[in-house]
Amino acid sequence: MTANPPFDLDTVDRLLTTTKAVRRRLDLTRPVDRETVVECIRLASYSPNASNAQEWHWVVVDDPELRALVGEQYRSCTVPVVTKMLATKEEAGDEAGARISRSIIYLAERMAEVPVLVIPCYDVAAASARYGNLIGPERATAEMEPGMFASIYPAVWSFLLALRSRGLGSTLTTAHQSDQPAMAEILGIPSTWFQTALIPVAHTTGGDFKPSPRAPVEDTIVWNTHS
Ligand SMILES: Cc1cc2nc3c(=O)[nH]c(=O)nc-3n(C[C@H](O)[C@H](O)[C@H](O)COP(=O)(O)O)c2cc1C
Repeated sequence: MTANPPFDLDTVDRLLTTTKAVRRRLDLTRPVDRETVVECIRLASYSPNASNAQEWHWVVVDDPELRALVGEQYRSCTVPVVTKMLATKEEAGDEAGARISRSIIYLAERMAEVPVLVIPCYDVAAASARYGNLIGPERATAEMEPGMFASIYPAVWSFLLALRSRGLGSTLTTAHQSDQPAMAEILGIPSTWFQTALIPVAHTTGGDFKPSPRAPVEDTIVWNTHS
């Protein structure tokens, strides 16, 4: 442990361990102001990204009619699939897994009511033009390379941390990706932008959050070589 850490570690550790998937405790009645969303995106923009090219676009939806369409797209991609997963988990007696599936369905059925919906997009066309022939021909579709994913998900996570630090809650969701063209059509998103997530943003209800269960980290570490 550093003798004089440059941060208040209790606060930092609490932020890192309690920024979690919030679904049932999103306040669907309280508006979220645009300035706070912009501030959180600004904080997220300090994330590592290849060559500091910042090939991201943050599509922020707060218009109620568009939210209804976006929410329905998410619901229709999510509920049928997760309902099947729930049945499988219930049959297997996996109560922890079933609880997550029920929570996912709960949010999916209310996604349209969440005050702000954010879709961070990665500009694959811009990245492939920049990489040139390192990754093959320039792309007319949003076909992602590992380095592209790695250049935006740190920013997505920083965005979630920044939201949490300001009393807002969220969940990283990706279920809508099974039909990205439908979302692109609703919001005019270019086909060369990969929609990395759909992030609901709302104030939270109730008290503070506890860390989610995690496996002992010692079980996940390989020191030097795997035997
Ligand atoms: C790549 C990825 C995709 C996810 N997709 C969804 C999703 O589509 N819908 C949802 O409600 N949660 C989604 N989640 C949230 C996970 O269910 C959640 O992070 C996990 O259950 C652990 O819970 P915790 O973050 O509260 O600790 C996703 C998380 C990740 C990292």
